[in-house]
Amino acid sequence: MTNAQKWVAAFLVLFLLLFALEKLTEKKQPLVSFPDMEGYDISGEEVDVATIMDHKRCTGCHGSDFKGTPKGPSIIGVQKYWSKDELVNYLKNPMSYGKGNRFEDYKKKYKSFMPSFDQTDTKTLGRIAEYVLQLK
Ligand code: HEC
Repeated sequence: MTNAQKWVAAFLVLFLLLFALEKLTEKKQPLVSFPDMEGYDISGEEVDVATIMDHKRCTGCHGSDFKGTPKGPSIIGVQKYWSKDELVNYLKNPMSYGKGNRFEDYKKKYKSFMPSFDQTDTKTLGRIAEYVLQLK
């Protein structure tokens, strides 16, 4: 083999290796990805809702017991404020609920704000809402 042939062979092997590697990793699409504000985006029937809320950082701001942290209020007992549908709408667009009532106080008290979860599918938001509404 001439030197040029060796180089061509080396590149071919490298190409095939990379191709194989790509195919291998393609199959192992991770369940967890983090495309946006929503933090790790996992959803799907098979994932339990508490885990989803952990990955979406609800617990990071509202506490692992949902009793609140310096970053967010307690969300226990909020069933007196929300129906399921309203809460799903709130999760999609919390900014539109900022006027009057307790939200004014939240703004003063917490430096962080409630992120919108409009990239999350409505079904998953429904499961999250149901979970929140049964917290006591
Ligand atoms: C970055 C911190 C942060 C994250 C993450 C977060 N929240 Fe919040 N949340 C807040 C803050 C702060 C408020 C108070 C309202 C405001 O300031 O926008 C709030 C308000 C709320 C309320 C309204 C409480 C009431 O009095 O009615 C609910 C319900 C809620 N969050 C649920 C969730 C859920 C469910 C998730 C995850 C899907 C989540 N939050 C993620 C910070 C956060």
